[in-house]
Amino acid sequence: MIKIAPSILSADFAAMGKAVEALKEQGADWVHFDVMDGNFVPNITFGPGMCKAIRPLTDLPIDVHLMVEHPSDWIEPFRSAGADILTIHVESAERHLHRALQAIRAAGMKAGVVLNPATPICTCVHLLSECDLVLLMSVNPGFGGQSFIPETLSKIRALKAEIAARNLPTLIEIDGGVNPDTAKLCIEAGADVLVAGSAVFKAPDPKAMIAALRG
Ligand code: DX5
Ligand code: ZN
Repeated sequence: MIKIAPSILSADFAAMGKAVEALKEQGADWVHFDVMDGNFVPNITFGPGMCKAIRPLTDLPIDVHLMVEHPSDWIEPFRSAGADILTIHVESAERHLHRALQAIRAAGMKAGVVLNPATPICTCVHLLSECDLVLLMSVNPGFGGQSFIPETLSKIRALKAEIAARNLPTLIEIDGGVNPDTAKLCIEAGADVLVAGSAVFKAPDPKAMIAALRG
């Protein structure tokens, strides 16, 4: 069953609590939490303080996507802020991705790596046993509301084949430009989790949109 993870990057920041509280009833599976440091990506969003603030408002897993240069510095702050899942970019300044993934799991969270659109899947193949999930970016990270990059579909298929061949439980998450049309293509290609920011939060009826994304 496909999971839908609305990205609160596209929520109304002045009404964040209400937006998070509504997600479960609207049919969301995870809360996607986009952390940007103004360095790894050309934008700044929010950090552990926001995670701590929304933690009491939902029992859905909080899926933290770290778009930061030094992800290892943020493992403990997000653990104590109540995050459930932490994903780190293979393109970040972290030299020891394998160790960082082990540290995330040792802190009691699910761990994963993220690949930018230009990054081939071979960069995560030797990390899969340490990954509960791999997040494939289907837009260049930094902003919501961009168009889905179609080459992502062949990356999903190739990664799915690798995971299946090794009989691993690793989930494939897709992030960026997901709408009902691109969601269908991602699901057909083998995606397990779909992040959707503007599609959900700009929809007149977010519940109907989440249902439409499931197909
Ligand atoms: C982009 C973020 C995404 C973003 C997706 O850097 O990682 O999670 O919020 O937004 P949409 O769904 O609008 O492309
Ligand atoms: Zn994201």
